Amino acid sequence: MNLAKEDKRMKKAWWKESVVYQIYPRSFCDSNGDGIGDLNGITGKLEYLKELGIDVIWLSPVYQSPNDDNGYDISDYRRIMAEFGTMEDYDRMLKRAHELGIKIMMDLVVNHTSDEHAWFVESRKSKDNPYRDYYIWRDAKGGKEPNNWGACFGGSAWKYDEKTDQYFLHLFSEKQPDLNWDNKEVRKKVFDMMTWWCEKGIDGFRMDVISLISKRPGLPDGPVGRSGYGDHGCANGPHVHDYLKEMNREVLSKYDLITVGECSGVTVEEAKKYASAEGTELNMVFQFEHMDLDGGENFKWNHEKIRLTELKAVMSKWQTELAGKAWNSLYWCNHDQPRMLSRIGNDTKEYRERSAKLLGTCLHMMQGTPYIYQGEELGMTNYPFQSLDEFRDIESINAYHELTEKKIVSPEDMFDYISYKGRDNARTPMQWDDSRQAGFTSGTPWIAVNPDYKEINAKEQMEREDSVFHYYQKLIRLRKEHEIIVYGDYKLLIPDSEELYVYMRSYEGQRLLVICNFAEKEMAYEVPEELMGEEGDVLISNYGRTELGHSAVLEPYECMAVLYA
Ligand code: NOJ
Repeated sequence: MNLAKEDKRMKKAWWKESVVYQIYPRSFCDSNGDGIGDLNGITGKLEYLKELGIDVIWLSPVYQSPNDDNGYDISDYRRIMAEFGTMEDYDRMLKRAHELGIKIMMDLVVNHTSDEHAWFVESRKSKDNPYRDYYIWRDAKGGKEPNNWGACFGGSAWKYDEKTDQYFLHLFSEKQPDLNWDNKEVRKKVFDMMTWWCEKGIDGFRMDVISLISKRPGLPDGPVGRSGYGDHGCANGPHVHDYLKEMNREVLSKYDLITVGECSGVTVEEAKKYASAEGTELNMVFQFEHMDLDGGENFKWNHEKIRLTELKAVMSKWQTELAGKAWNSLYWCNHDQPRMLSRIGNDTKEYRERSAKLLGTCLHMMQGTPYIYQGEELGMTNYPFQSLDEFRDIESINAYHELTEKKIVSPEDMFDYISYKGRDNARTPMQWDDSRQAGFTSGTPWIAVNPDYKEINAKEQMEREDSVFHYYQKLIRLRKEHEIIVYGDYKLLIPDSEELYVYMRSYEGQRLLVICNFAEKEMAYEVPEELMGEEGDVLISNYGRTELGHSAVLEPYECMAVLYA
């Protein structure tokens, strides 16, 4: 084997070997009884995360914010949101995490700020204000908005501001005006702020919708969808790679960081630029192709099911096409997605734990850096919504009103869709134990606790050997014990099966066979010819299987990873 070539292709890095755990602070742990999770709550749970074995925490935004979009609307990047605590609390959390060997990755939200950020407060004052050009202001066109773009949270992407008789651009809510990245001073201010956090000792950045920062020149109209608005088409804009290279030169390259760009609209080809092995921009991206498989004409609002063959095709494309050229992030869940267990797993009592383990195995045995979203390691499920007033999320609430008022979707169907796909499914409080409010708060939680907490909670699972928690702990440990899991090549087997997801990893003469039965029925399986006659070592199995012969009858939702050394 040509070792030099191999080494070059798979340059080792700590962030490739790490497992990241996402905390949504508002819903993680409340230390002071106000019903809202906070930094001291997180500090108190660091030992739990240490026990799970994760290496890095991605902390959703904790900066000062009026909370129009739960912290993704930042009014001061150098202050902590009062509800979450103080900068001293933050420093204590960071210090304790580091003592435990856990790194902290901050959420960097710089496509937009809050409209309450000092830059925007200045910007809207007058056309000749020095901060005017920090944002994207335009005159009306024919008495209407400057173009036909729709905002991601409904309505037009433009908001009229009487004071100066112009519109400003907001791709998200009207309290989230977009920054003008073409302005050099804006970039410098952002880079200075990032440096400030790096000097504090943080370990990385997850970059919110970073693929949208460079708008197309002339801001042209986009194709109109069912909502009546045009697509903004801002993904992967003309200067996005220049700006990220500049960010890399000015900030990222000076520290040893983990960086991941949230890149809606990213293709494999684009990802190779954002996350190239040369490291000129970011370490990796979050792509959305697997999350969009059950999308449709009304964006994500439907009750479609993801087909396994399509899921396999998408995952495998990313696995094979980035190999050696860029690096993958691996995720099923985050604060913007419903619980994957309720989406492609089976959240009934009978199969919940098995399918949670199946999903974990399927993802964690792939090449890339795995991300676990809080509660995923317990097999937390979607929330059983009964009425509209249980929702807190601006996206679901706005979409409900917009699509029902325009009579595009009936109120019954729309309620069904937001209950199934809405982001609040992921945002219900972390279930710590079976006491009142699942041990999340001693007060009234800002969003209801899932009633299944008596059955699904961390305390019970930590005490039970065959729990989802211990299974995830093992998945994480295996990644540390076997380089093949991190660096091995990936090959999809039996691509046409609608029930079985089987793939093989190979590395330095070893092979790892990963078998996942996504069906609620028994399935016959025969190992590939090249492994016939070889004895494999079952590294992990959700049915307690200890060996695999030439063939097997797989139980419903059975999974295993078998190493042939
Ligand atoms: C992506 C974030 O993950 C989401 O929660 C947020 O609403 C939008 N970006 C806007 O910042």
